[in-house]
Amino acid sequence: VQRTSRARLAGQISPWFVLLGFNLFCVLAISGYLLGVTQSKEYAEAEWYADLWLVIVWVTYFILYIATIARRKEPHIYVANWYFMAFILVVAILHIVNNLAVPVSWGHAKSYTIWPGVQDAMVQWWYGHNAVAFFLTAGFLGMLYYYLPVRAQRPIFSYRLSILSFWGITFFYMWAGSHHLHYTALPHWVQTLGMTFSVMLLVPSWASAGNALLTLNGAWHKVRDDATLRFMMAAVVFYGLSTFEGSFLAIRPVNSLSHYTDWTVGHVHAGALGWVALITFGSLYTLVPSLWKRERMYSATLVEVHFWLAIAGTLIYAFAMWNSGIIQGLMWRTYTEDGALAYSFVDSLVAMYPYYIARAFGGLLFLLGAVVGCYNMWMTVQSAPLAAPREADVPVVPATIPGE
Ligand code: HEM
Repeated sequence: VQRTSRARLAGQISPWFVLLGFNLFCVLAISGYLLGVTQSKEYAEAEWYADLWLVIVWVTYFILYIATIARRKEPHIYVANWYFMAFILVVAILHIVNNLAVPVSWGHAKSYTIWPGVQDAMVQWWYGHNAVAFFLTAGFLGMLYYYLPVRAQRPIFSYRLSILSFWGITFFYMWAGSHHLHYTALPHWVQTLGMTFSVMLLVPSWASAGNALLTLNGAWHKVRDDATLRFMMAAVVFYGLSTFEGSFLAIRPVNSLSHYTDWTVGHVHAGALGWVALITFGSLYTLVPSLWKRERMYSATLVEVHFWLAIAGTLIYAFAMWNSGIIQGLMWRTYTEDGALAYSFVDSLVAMYPYYIARAFGGLLFLLGAVVGCYNMWMTVQSAPLAAPREADVPVVPATIPGE
């Protein structure tokens, strides 16, 4: 945000407060898990005392961010900054609404949510789904919109399309959460609403993916030669794939097969490894040399090795889970002629065996790639050749005042 706004952060102490405060929240939340203190909400396990602390930290984060944007010297707001803004604002709203709870007493860790029954489930999945959208997607789209053009040395294909897809994603995601509650006590029309918005969500999601791929038009030779840019390109492809899959899984009859199975796990990892992690690696390989003022990464070959390990790991993992999920779903709904279930749960577990071995193998490759990446970054900081100072980084010489 500082570079794209050409302004310093709007605070001296608040950035440190946000950094340390967020880490303190993680300590509070994780120590709660170990002590058995949880409000039993998925992705929101931390109890009220940790949640309250996070509200203070996150609101400071938002104010800091907005104040920095407000003092920008760059006339227009970069698309990446729109996404970061949405990420910070919406996560704050989601966190506050989902965690509204009354503690048993000030001295007690336990609290009870203010949302009763099915409303609680709906609020939880409105939160959970938008956590995917704004925690696992908006911030990473922000990274994509900044680092991909920087690395490809080309402007984004269409600024207009990126703003359109930004508002599409922001608006449609808000309504899609109920696809997590198909075939439950949630009113049927609310499920249908969630399903419809999920399918519509494909349009802005693919508009973003298309915009990124079209930016690469004319730079495909760079994608071939530069594994960092290839990381970003592969991330976009996985983004397109996982959003297509998500819209498909949200269709009620499809969900009746996929829900509770490893298919969901395959979808999650196509998104989390293929999209979120790959765009992060691509961004880090661009960021690390420039942050430490190095000419390039320590070893381009190791970036290449990392790329292929990450791709192979993600594909093996996701294919294993897609297969095992669909087999599980089919086995659980197969009946004998007299109407009894054809397979026991244990039968389905036995059938999963080869896929779980493949999953472990894929995960191992992915992890190995990350270790190679860490080594390469460490060596870049330690020993890669220093870059010539860039124009923008040279301190401005103050004009001589007459008479001095
Ligand atoms: C158009 C975009 C997307 C739609 C419509 C969508 C839809 C869905 C659906 C229908 C499920 C299964 C719900 C169930 O049966 O319980 C699901 C699960 C999930 N998706 Fe997506 N998805 C999208 C994109 C993504 C992306 C990009 C990620 C990134 C990592 C992601 C992460 C997840 C996670 C973590 C879950 C598991 C939630 C849980 O049950 O704990 N999704 N999504």
